[in-house]
Amino acid sequence: MRAIAVSALRADPVLVELPKPEPRPGEVRVRVEYASLNPLDWQVTDGSAGGLAPAPRTFPFVVGLDYAGRVDMIGGGENRFRVGDPVFGRAAVADACGSYGEYLCVEQDSAITLVPRGLTPRAAAALPSAGMAAAQILEAVALRGHETLLVVGAAGGVGCCLTQLARARDVRVIAAVRGDERSRMGSLGAAASVDLTDGPPADALRRACPDGIDALADLASAAPDAFAAHAAAARPGGVALSTRGAAAGARLPEGVRGVDFRLDPSPVLLDVLAAGAAEGILRVPVDAEVPLADAPLALARNRAGGARGKTVIVLRG
Ligand SMILES: NC(=O)c1ccc[n+]([C@@H]2O[C@H](COP(=O)([O-])OP(=O)(O)OC[C@H]3O[C@@H](n4cnc5c(N)ncnc54)[C@H](OP(=O)(O)O)[C@@H]3O)[C@@H](O)[C@H]2O)c1
Repeated sequence: MRAIAVSALRADPVLVELPKPEPRPGEVRVRVEYASLNPLDWQVTDGSAGGLAPAPRTFPFVVGLDYAGRVDMIGGGENRFRVGDPVFGRAAVADACGSYGEYLCVEQDSAITLVPRGLTPRAAAALPSAGMAAAQILEAVALRGHETLLVVGAAGGVGCCLTQLARARDVRVIAAVRGDERSRMGSLGAAASVDLTDGPPADALRRACPDGIDALADLASAAPDAFAAHAAAARPGGVALSTRGAAAGARLPEGVRGVDFRLDPSPVLLDVLAAGAAEGILRVPVDAEVPLADAPLALARNRAGGARGKTVIVLRG
């Protein structure tokens, strides 16, 4: 099968030909139709995922987590899936069997579920990591209606989902982005957008949040100092959450609780999100669609920044 893999930690991802993986007892093999790109894909192979994911140990290591396709083979034992089922999900991090490959083996009780009627496999593939992270971030910051959430890095995959899910709960979202994204973020439900390149970021945030915020979800800052600068907008009693492991080392304002978020993938949460997406309540914008051979370029582009929604990789459209 064709796959994008690395031959060692920090090696460049390249298109290779590999044997099809064989499902073990309790696993299913999925013939992948679409994968989607997450920054964790390159952070893992770079060894820069920090405490969020272990570095790969088995090579060649097939890149990628999120996928949609059809069950093509069942491993031994009881299984809740059947050959031919349309499925989507998120593979385990640091499993050598990634989603940027034509076939993928995953445990049947991992974060995998049926694609519901009304959801295309392309849209399903874009959903798992970004959608589940957004839903669990919203739980972690525990805001009530009319409270204010500042989302830094709001224009990417997680941010687009988080903005919509928060808005659906009447939370007031301030989207902090680089560039003028007022129209895009407004259409997803943001009450206001701040361009962090419009003068010093701290000044731009002070102007956008003169009364402070109830919670921060910082999806961009890897450095504790940058995270702490954004958390300065939080009121006492507020929460400052990082998806990049920046909270533990940050000096936060008095009374502000720091959280280093860690996704806990689950098939039940995938079902809830897929139902919302099938009904049109949750829209996952697709920024780019590329063939498998161009996935290494897409990874390099994502590493450089500038994501506006998700990149989808086509394996068998
Ligand atoms: N902890 C967990 O379990 C977990 C779960 C999901 C995601 N994550 C992490 O969360 C991060 C975001 O994920 P994602 O899927 O949303 O990534 P993404 O789709 O690549 O989006 C990242 C967004 O951040 C923006 N950005 C980058 N640097 C910025 C800065 N200094 N200030 C403001 N915006 C900035 C980018 O646009 P510009 O470059 O144009 O600003 C882009 O829109 C990734 O590092 C990912 O690994 C962690």
